[in-house]
Amino acid sequence: KVYRASTTAPVNIAVVKYWGKRDAKLNLPTNSSLSVTLSQADLRTLTTASCSASFPASEGDALLLNGEPSDISGARTQACLRELRSRRAALEAADPSLPKLSTYPLRLVSENNFPTAAGLASSAAGFAALVRAIANLYELPASPSELSLIARQGSGSACRSLFGGYVAWRMGDKADGTDSMADQVAEASHWPDMRALVLVVSAAKKGVSSSSGMQQTVATSGLFRERIATVVPENMAIMEKAIAEKDFEKFAEVTMRDSNSFHATCADTYPPIFYMNDVSRAAIRAVEAINEKAGRTVAAYTFDAGPNAVIYYQEKDTEAVVGTFYHVLQGADIGGWKSADIKGLKPTISLD
Ligand code: DP6
Repeated sequence: KVYRASTTAPVNIAVVKYWGKRDAKLNLPTNSSLSVTLSQADLRTLTTASCSASFPASEGDALLLNGEPSDISGARTQACLRELRSRRAALEAADPSLPKLSTYPLRLVSENNFPTAAGLASSAAGFAALVRAIANLYELPASPSELSLIARQGSGSACRSLFGGYVAWRMGDKADGTDSMADQVAEASHWPDMRALVLVVSAAKKGVSSSSGMQQTVATSGLFRERIATVVPENMAIMEKAIAEKDFEKFAEVTMRDSNSFHATCADTYPPIFYMNDVSRAAIRAVEAINEKAGRTVAAYTFDAGPNAVIYYQEKDTEAVVGTFYHVLQGADIGGWKSADIKGLKPTISLD
């Protein structure tokens, strides 16, 4: 008999960024962060987990990622598998009638519906889907927050992809990390007008990985100390209030300021790390021009550890934002774009 469970997990894009670890082994952050979960229609990972006593033990656990065999011997993946297995083993110990799934080899098949190399937070959706698929397979009675504790050990940002809508990852202060998990700040339906535009500036793989980049920043940047001591706590508080009040002006300002602050600490890292390029900066100028023309803030940019921009805006301003963006970027080599939003659609303009 083969036991099987499938699940999907969406991509999330932070508006208050996670950047810095206080414990690299447990993946504990130096600050809390907050993100918006994007629509599964466009950006998600689909993972199927199966296990069976008939799978040869000599083959061990295996992962097929987008059709290619993928290495799962890394410490982070192993931490997730270990944690899930031990929870299943505890259930089996309590109820001897349960099949001993914890002792069977696992086969994992994972697929993204977007280019993995596009720098679009694929690790977040990937680890969230992996953890939930196995938790479902093992029939673990775990809440999304409990699963977020496990996914966090795979990739920090993954803990936020276990929820939809607006999600906070509370840094916690315990040394063992048991209070460093995600919770939902608001449902996506709370702010049905919210949209995200993903500008793929480059699909090339990023130069410095987030893991090593943030370690270098923690070790060398003075600006970073200011960021975690005062900038982020303030941004978290203002952002949560802005979301509760659906105050786009505030939401946008904090989103842009926090992205700028994060990239400033990257530039202050020694040697410096640059994730944005000339096209990224052109996108920032375009957002400024759009807001100026509208006479109010209708669009907000944010950049992760790569050159691609995510632009947040409200449905009512689609024409001003997407229309203008399309127009402004006409000069660039636009590969094509399609329409989408957080609830169902997410316009993607590819500049590759
Ligand atoms: C800039 O979650 O990829 O996207 O925990 O080392 O896997 P690891 O890092 P990761 O870092 C994401 C950094 C970011 C900001 C964010 O998503 O909050």
